[in-house]
Amino acid sequence: MIFGATGDLAKRKLFPSIFRLYERGKLDKFAVIGVARRPLSNEEFQQNVVDSVKSALGDDKNLDEFVSHFYYQSLDVDDSGSYTDLKKLADQIDDHYDLEGNRIFYLAMAPQFFGPIALHLKSDGLTDVKGYKRLVIEKPFGHDLESAKELNKQIRTAFAEEEIYRIDHYLGKEMVRNIEVIRFANAIFEPLWNNRYISNIQITSSEVLGVEERGRYYESSGALRDMVQNHMLQMVALLAMEPPISLTTDEIRSEKVRVFRALRQIEGDEVNEYFVRGQYGEGTIDDKQVPKYRDEPMVDKESNTETFVAGKIMIDNFRWAGVPFYIRTGKRMKAKSTKIVVQFKDIPMNLYYQTEKMLNPNLLVIHIQPEEGITLYLNAKKAGGKLDAQNVKLSFANTGVHAMNTPEGYEKLIYDCMRGDATNFTHWDEVAYSWAFVDKISAVWEKTKGDFPNYQAGSMGPDAADKLLEKDGFFWWPVT
Ligand code: BG6
Repeated sequence: MIFGATGDLAKRKLFPSIFRLYERGKLDKFAVIGVARRPLSNEEFQQNVVDSVKSALGDDKNLDEFVSHFYYQSLDVDDSGSYTDLKKLADQIDDHYDLEGNRIFYLAMAPQFFGPIALHLKSDGLTDVKGYKRLVIEKPFGHDLESAKELNKQIRTAFAEEEIYRIDHYLGKEMVRNIEVIRFANAIFEPLWNNRYISNIQITSSEVLGVEERGRYYESSGALRDMVQNHMLQMVALLAMEPPISLTTDEIRSEKVRVFRALRQIEGDEVNEYFVRGQYGEGTIDDKQVPKYRDEPMVDKESNTETFVAGKIMIDNFRWAGVPFYIRTGKRMKAKSTKIVVQFKDIPMNLYYQTEKMLNPNLLVIHIQPEEGITLYLNAKKAGGKLDAQNVKLSFANTGVHAMNTPEGYEKLIYDCMRGDATNFTHWDEVAYSWAFVDKISAVWEKTKGDFPNYQAGSMGPDAADKLLEKDGFFWWPVT
């Protein structure tokens, strides 16, 4: 059941992803009930699904059989009667398709409804099934630690922790999943993966888009809650975790949680030393003039919301003591790009000192999107007589999907949920620790006005983000 079936996420990501699973033969017995407030007939709903799949995946598909598995039920979230109707339909469909009472409830709607829906699912009997019941829940998971706890309490009355699949769609990205493999399946990286050999790690996730139509949500969120609390910290955890003793969900999650527990907490006056916030001004992107954030629809003219965050994250454990993890993310930047740069320490003595410049450090770049792959930067001898060193690149490009924002990630996550594999979903403990970390930063930023706008649309963010690294003797490696 998809709650929020007339919404943007369902249209852009969920229907195409379900279709891809179907196309690949991964959906054996299945049916989808779309649930939303507005009244629609099954036929109208099926037409929406056809339009969505065609616009995402091309016009040439025959979708008749596929969409015949889709049903629609309109629902008033607060009305028990609506849930009774939904239950009736679900039970009939269960019999018809022989679904063995297995149910996935996918909440893809405004977060204020998550709690009430979960409570109704239980009280109105939708979760009384003889098969499995699983709840997939989209972000934002709360607005801060307090509200996240409250939400968690509500959904836990109807679902056990192992039945809850909290989506972080970055964990569906091919190269984010590859971080562990690159680290733990290569003898040449793991022995160096620590503070003796790594000088710093940089994670950039930049976007060209502004807030588009999401001004209302974004005003109460900002980049810190929208990107750092979840996607950025998840990437930090995957880069920093210890090797798990096995690849089970529990082992991997518990290693990630240990990273969150070791995050140095930044509060009070330290916040502005470790973190930089920005808000975009107007600028030119692809030869088009774009407005400043404060002129976007549904945004306050005096808005204090950050659309950019850069930060220095320290992990106070044996492996990482002294190694900064720099993160930066923002809207209306120069390029759409997510990359991780691991900078290794300089060699102890440089025999190949070139008069014009020093040797470059070794870098391992993990390209998350739009390209997918890894590049290792080495130094090697220049062809010719002199023993000069020059920079060379070893590159591996994933031959998978190169388009960004494809349904790929969602497809994998939906499939994981069907199989009952929660490894690439966030456990409550991860959510709680990351809110606790982020809340201390927002507490300071909400009290003081930012000097906004402070970066031009189409740039790589405010100057202060460069200074953050300069004061440690580093700079952002170019990612575009
Ligand atoms: C979402 C944020 O979680 O991630 C959006 O709410 C952001 O604001 C998006 O644009 C970025 O995802 P991706 O996959 O395009 O990098």
